[in-house]
Amino acid sequence: MRIAVVVGARPQFVKAAPVLKTLIARGHDAVQVHTGQHYDYEMSEVFFRDLGIPEPDHNLAVGSASHGRQTGEMLIALEPILEAAAPAWTLVFGDTNSTLAGALAACKLQLRVAHIEAGLRSFNRAMPEEHNRRLTDHCSDLLFCPSQTAVDNLRAEAITAGVHLVGDTMLDAILLCRDIARARSTILHDLAVSAGDYLLATIHRPYNTDDPARLAVLLDALAETGATVVVPVHPRTRQAIQAWPGLASGNLRLIDPVGYLDMLALLQNARAVMTDSGGLQKEAVFLGTRCVTLRPETEWVETIETGWNRLGGDSVKSILTALDEVLGNEPTEKPSYGDGTAAARIVDILTGELPQHVV
Ligand code: UD1
Repeated sequence: MRIAVVVGARPQFVKAAPVLKTLIARGHDAVQVHTGQHYDYEMSEVFFRDLGIPEPDHNLAVGSASHGRQTGEMLIALEPILEAAAPAWTLVFGDTNSTLAGALAACKLQLRVAHIEAGLRSFNRAMPEEHNRRLTDHCSDLLFCPSQTAVDNLRAEAITAGVHLVGDTMLDAILLCRDIARARSTILHDLAVSAGDYLLATIHRPYNTDDPARLAVLLDALAETGATVVVPVHPRTRQAIQAWPGLASGNLRLIDPVGYLDMLALLQNARAVMTDSGGLQKEAVFLGTRCVTLRPETEWVETIETGWNRLGGDSVKSILTALDEVLGNEPTEKPSYGDGTAAARIVDILTGELPQHVV
């Protein structure tokens, strides 16, 4: 069966990898389209190498632009490719502009769309990701949910047909790569840090980076932890951070973005992670590392309910309190995001549910 896989931004390479590997192993024709939303080596190519997935069949090289222009250019470039490929399914992942463009392009060609990581909601309409995930869910034929909360969110919007609770393909990816990261990554040695003696932090959401006062609060909080804080800096944050008065502060280790294997190594050995990333919150829990989320809310509510994660709030004090609290906790239970076989379930459903004439 021919299946189009649309990716474009860093977390999508991780979410798609286990699905691509399963499709290829079962002899399906996976047509991989990279929109080019992320294009720097350390934001894109390194992930293909680390995850052991083939180079994309098409790269649309759309690059950076305003949301409308970026999404529109993807849509224009995707249409002829999907039309020519005529896939039985078009797969889209998560909540980026590439997700929405892939879903819309397929849907307008009357091709069937499957959304992986469906049903997540922050209930914050100021986030571009919230528009992307809501719109994508509403034009998808199959909706693969990582959690029961996601299934419930869809039901509240009257979406019940085609919904499947399969677990999280990010857990599949960790199980595939955790041991490889342990064996191959030299990042702890390169940074001269050792297990348990540093914090890891990432900041990239526009909500945090585009308001200098808010960004300063987050960076001040990291500085005031007094610990060595390893901060792989996203390109969006690189410029914004220059204006922060504490830039010379001794305990922050600002480094370029890291690949997947290095990130797993940093995560599994950190005392805790402080992040506004959606993926890292879960990946931390999967690897047994506690997390402070640098946002007013999270889609991954189970990580909070089980005591692995805390919301940092709006002040230096509240962020430091959240860190103390989460480190003082000894969570006993892990949130349920499946058993690491989400990709196999997804491919079973994609290939088994189709009427014979479409296969
Ligand atoms: C996007 C996603 C977000 C996801 C994140 C992961 C949307 C709306 N947001 O945010 O959900 O969590 O990816 O990283 O799709 N840039 C580079 N090099 C690159 C990529 C980007 O320099 O390889 C710069 C661009 O100039 C741009 C900025 O980074 O100004 C942001 O890139 P963009 O793709 O717009 O969104 P992200 O913030 O990465």
